Amino acid sequence: MAHLAQTLDGKIAAINGDSRWISNEANLKHAHRLRSLHDAVMVGAATASLDNPKLTVRLVTGKNPIPVIIEGQKDLNFDDLQMIAIHEKTIVLYPQGKQRQKLPEAIKEKILAIPISPGKDAEQKPVLYPADILKVLYENGISSIFLEGGGQTVSYFLQTDSLNLLHLHFAPLLLGSGRSSFTLPVVDSIGEGVRFQMKHFDLEGEILMELLPNHKDV
Ligand SMILES: NC(=O)c1ccc[n+]([C@@H]2O[C@H](COP(=O)([O-])OP(=O)(O)OC[C@H]3O[C@@H](n4cnc5c(N)ncnc54)[C@H](OP(=O)(O)O)[C@@H]3O)[C@@H](O)[C@H]2O)c1
Repeated sequence: MAHLAQTLDGKIAAINGDSRWISNEANLKHAHRLRSLHDAVMVGAATASLDNPKLTVRLVTGKNPIPVIIEGQKDLNFDDLQMIAIHEKTIVLYPQGKQRQKLPEAIKEKILAIPISPGKDAEQKPVLYPADILKVLYENGISSIFLEGGGQTVSYFLQTDSLNLLHLHFAPLLLGSGRSSFTLPVVDSIGEGVRFQMKHFDLEGEILMELLPNHKDV
């Protein structure tokens, strides 16, 4: 499942990547609870570097999930990432064949780097297919994944029918610019949009939408 906290105009961060905090404390706690209910918590490379999240469950009682980063074309600065310092092991998925930097000696033991044979997206850019990501993680003992952003990563899972459930939190905030929650292929008709079954909840004055893609039957 995935979760994003967004503004009323569908932004998850300012253009420069600042996103703290769009939502209220109740949502942060909710996100920590969701982390604790899954085997792994996964983020895209931009979220890992811009947010530098700890990915712990410190606001609730429970066990920390295994952090997973999807590394793309750019190299991450692993020395700076808090999650690597905090967790025993962090899984880094990267496109097979990529010329990667050598992992720093001091944190080498804490990173399980797994290559995945990349495919091509609509713009011929190499991507890791969500089905391959899920398969590799399953082979490594992970059977439930909480995808915590950012927008590009969640969009790619959504677009490939790889999400069972999406939690979208709405904060009463407008930016008028910023990084989008969703970037999907252009459609020519409303019927081609992704429609959901929906429940909504009040989270201390803000709204959480629980969205079930129409084709899913959970
Ligand atoms: N409000 C919220 O709930 C929330 C949650 C999380 C993050 N955020 C914010 O969102 C922003 C980052 O989101 P974003 O949408 O810009 O980026 P993102 O989804 O965090 O990361 C996207 C990047 O990750 C790599 N990647 C992800 N999936 C991949 C795949 N399947 N195959 C290959 N590479 C893949 C690529 O890296 P390369 O570019 O290196 O190829 C891609 O450009 C930050 O500002 C953060 O603060 C907000």
